[in-house]
Amino acid sequence: MGRLLHVLLFVFFSFSLFHGGLSRAVKVKSQVGSEEEWGYVQVRPKAHMFWWLYKSPYRVEQPSKPCQSFFGYKVDLAPQENSTWLKKADLLFVDNPVGTGYSFVEDTEMFVRTDDEAATDLTTLLMELFNRNGSLQKSPLYIVAESYGGKFAVTAGLSILKAIDAGKLKLKLGGVALGNSWISPEDFAFAWGPLLKDVSRLDINGLKKSNSLAEKISQQLKNGQYTDATNTWSQLESVIGDNSNSVDFYNFLLDAGMGPVALTASEFSNGFYSVNRYSRYLSSLRVSPGNGGGDLDSLMNGVIKKKLKIPDNVTWGGQSDSVFSYLAGDFMRPRIAEVDELLSKGVNVTIYSGQLDVICATKGTEAWIDKLKWEGLQDFLSTERSPLYCKDDGATKGFYKSYKNLQFFWILGAGHFVPVEQPCVALDMAGAITQSPAAAEAS
Ligand SMILES: *[C@@H]1O[C@H](CO)[C@@H](O)[C@H](O)[C@H]1NC(C)=O
Ligand SMILES: *[C@@H]1O[C@H](CO)[C@@H](O)[C@H](O)[C@H]1NC(C)=O
Ligand SMILES: *[C@@H]1O[C@H](CO)[C@@H](O)[C@H](O)[C@H]1NC(C)=O
Ligand SMILES: *[C@@H]1O[C@H](CO)[C@@H](O)[C@H](O)[C@H]1NC(C)=O
Repeated sequence: MGRLLHVLLFVFFSFSLFHGGLSRAVKVKSQVGSEEEWGYVQVRPKAHMFWWLYKSPYRVEQPSKPCQSFFGYKVDLAPQENSTWLKKADLLFVDNPVGTGYSFVEDTEMFVRTDDEAATDLTTLLMELFNRNGSLQKSPLYIVAESYGGKFAVTAGLSILKAIDAGKLKLKLGGVALGNSWISPEDFAFAWGPLLKDVSRLDINGLKKSNSLAEKISQQLKNGQYTDATNTWSQLESVIGDNSNSVDFYNFLLDAGMGPVALTASEFSNGFYSVNRYSRYLSSLRVSPGNGGGDLDSLMNGVIKKKLKIPDNVTWGGQSDSVFSYLAGDFMRPRIAEVDELLSKGVNVTIYSGQLDVICATKGTEAWIDKLKWEGLQDFLSTERSPLYCKDDGATKGFYKSYKNLQFFWILGAGHFVPVEQPCVALDMAGAITQSPAAAEAS
């Protein structure tokens, strides 16, 4: 079961870094000239959620078109200052669900068991932050998520709309963006074998084994056996690892044991494979010299924790394992219907996908899109794509298409982590998603 953790862990980062509560907000100037605020919100008794807001130094004060806020993936500021999404918007990071990152519960009963419960907590946090802040209310909020975070983004999007309609939340929802998101686990399970066979990473024998486990997952989901399906998923990952000589699930051009995130054999067999690999991957990409050094964990539990004045007895990531265990019954549940509902309510939905990803492969994403009941689907599918370039470089960086309120970005040369692997085109995309008023002068 240890292997399951890697996707969920992504969520921790995906929705990392917004902690609120007790409404103690701290405000400072950061090195890159943006203002930062953070705090905790008690979203339920004994459940504390952390938030962290970066205000864009490129903010354009236009009453009709103010800057935007994001939930989402923390794009690093120091090593990739030129491509920080702060150029396009304010960034709001939230450690969601409670128990991830700096968020914590004082009682294990307070962990969430479903995506919907996580969405409710997130909505509570937004009510706390937005309802009494006129300046935040003027900025449309775009929810940006990656990986498992996509399931929270669509459930949260619906929960936010409901709260707005009921007059409980003063906020403008700008749209929802789903980057390599775990929207339909079954479609990804069926995509893995054929994709890896086509790129020579599996042979026909591996493909057969993979497909037969995908069939088993499909049957379990039909029967409502969600936890069993989670176990079969874990088995399927092992089978693919064994038959591909350990392909990297986040980029099929790499090996799991090579590249920036090598693991020792003992970590691998301990089942901490995915967790460690993920955080080490992020660390290797994000921790720059002069930043304190070390891995992500020591960074977040060291200088950053000190800077943010996080209570001593709260450990960043200290409750992550429990968060996953409590969510195991929802992990394999698809959220296609929620995407459909957002589309039919007119919410702008952006989907983006790194070409080299395995875990949330483009092939699987295209398969679940085909299942949408949205009335615009056929027109969307028959719309021609346009190529994407970045700056003066003449190379094709991706493709793009949109129809009504659905748009899709295919990003070439990136795996699971589009903003870190293709920062230039990802930044342009962030500007397009948010229709950023800062876009003109910043890019
Ligand atoms: C950022 O952009 C500036 C100006 O274009 C350039 O001089 C600098 O090398 C860039 N930094 C990185 C890390 O790419
Ligand atoms: C709330 O509004 C004030 C004034 O408009 C602003 O300075 C402050 O940063 C806002 N708080 C948050 C959390 O954005
Ligand atoms: C939604 O997308 C349409 C088409 O791209 C765009 O014109 C509109 O401004 C977007 N709405 C928001 C709130 O971003
Ligand atoms: C940390 O200590 C405070 C004060 O004693 C307590 O209220 C809180 O529940 C503790 N937090 C954790 C995560 O144990």
